[in-house]
Amino acid sequence: MAFNKCLRILVLLVVCAVMVQGANPFLSFLQRPTSAVKKQAVAGSTPVSYQGSAFLMGYYAGVTQALLEKKVLVPGVTPTAGLSGGAYTLTLAQLGWNGTDILSFWRAIVREGKTHLAHGAVGRLNALSVWALQEALPQDLSNVYSRMRIAVSQLDGSKTTLNNSASWIIDSWQSRDDLIANLLGTSYLPCYSGPTTYTIFRNQPVLDGAFSNGFKQMCPDGNVTNCIKVASWHVGPLGSATCDKRCGSDRLAAKCAVPERTTINTVLHKNDQFVDRWLLSEVQLRCPEADWKGMDPYPFPYYVPQASTLPDIYPGRFNPLPAWPPGSNTTLLACQWQNFAMAPPLDRMDDFFEMTYDLGYRDALAWHAAQQQ
Ligand SMILES: *[C@@H]1O[C@H](CO)[C@@H](O)[C@H](O)[C@H]1NC(C)=O
Ligand SMILES: *[C@@H]1O[C@H](CO)[C@@H](O)[C@H](O)[C@H]1NC(C)=O
Ligand SMILES: *[C@@H]1O[C@H](CO)[C@@H](O)[C@H](O)[C@H]1NC(C)=O
Ligand SMILES: *[C@@H]1O[C@H](CO)[C@@H](O)[C@H](O)[C@H]1NC(C)=O
Repeated sequence: MAFNKCLRILVLLVVCAVMVQGANPFLSFLQRPTSAVKKQAVAGSTPVSYQGSAFLMGYYAGVTQALLEKKVLVPGVTPTAGLSGGAYTLTLAQLGWNGTDILSFWRAIVREGKTHLAHGAVGRLNALSVWALQEALPQDLSNVYSRMRIAVSQLDGSKTTLNNSASWIIDSWQSRDDLIANLLGTSYLPCYSGPTTYTIFRNQPVLDGAFSNGFKQMCPDGNVTNCIKVASWHVGPLGSATCDKRCGSDRLAAKCAVPERTTINTVLHKNDQFVDRWLLSEVQLRCPEADWKGMDPYPFPYYVPQASTLPDIYPGRFNPLPAWPPGSNTTLLACQWQNFAMAPPLDRMDDFFEMTYDLGYRDALAWHAAQQQ
């Protein structure tokens, strides 16, 4: 099992401070007058934040590999904040996993899903996460406990409906089980993750972090300037916005006029579709499939909510989207990339993981090169 191998190599290289930043007037007198003073201060001191990924998690694995190589992300040192797939990725990175190890984590989940959930993983993703996290996480999580923040969306237990969840940022954990419950909560999509509309974390009803968290919630002190923001779903200008039959019509992201596809959302998701009618006391064990089956894609998730702030590293900013299928001459359209978030090519998951990883890796290297100029 790939996990067991990974578990043995969790010893971390903590890279110490090497450079002092010029911007702080109190430190400037300490600096030698040399051109070696670079933009980045202490290696890995700038916070890093990842949004949710849905099935574009390979992108974050690739970004992580590049940020580790460049010592932008230093396990045990860099403050990180993430939600959903971004929180899983950053937890493993804090534990010393590199990008390809993290990709193996996702591959193992897909393999497990194919082996044991032949009838489809939709509605059962939570069970796969429980299995994978129990396999992957070591007993000693002290590095994670000290440097990590995880965002969930908290429902108001005093209200009778699921409307308007609130941002809840968790930055300390009582135990390994507590952290696992947090990770299950930050990635809980109603009816998609399990047969309930919400899950419980520390006796509170919660949902996937994306419903009420953007970078403003996740970056320390809400300072999105001093925070390296990574998003997998938002597609920049180098991604073709062409809208033709390749976009399909059965996924919401595919429809050309959907504003969420090309703009930054200033209003976070409100949980208002369908679920606002259901009484909280009734919904926990209720995913009325008849209400959402056949919709595009389902009431949840309507799209992959991403940010109220323009990210720093995202597809289509530094590089065009790659070819798909691999080896063809056909460049992916933005709509296709985004459709993959909710409907990955299940028959080509290995290629899909490679493709998304490779783009994330190249994008993060390009971002880093741009920072040095
Ligand atoms: C990541 O670490 C594993 C060992 O756990 C190693 O086999 C692999 O080559 C590393 N990946 C990269 C990109 O360095
Ligand atoms: C945010 O961070 C930037 C860069 O470190 C800094 O210049 C700015 O003063 C910070 N803003 C706030 C409100 O703290
Ligand atoms: C939930 O929110 C939506 C949109 O903000 C609103 O239209 C709806 O009336 C709300 N439902 C309840 C029960 O408050
Ligand atoms: C891709 O394009 C090149 C040159 O235009 C051509 O030689 C090659 O056969 C094409 N490959 C595929 C798979 O269509």
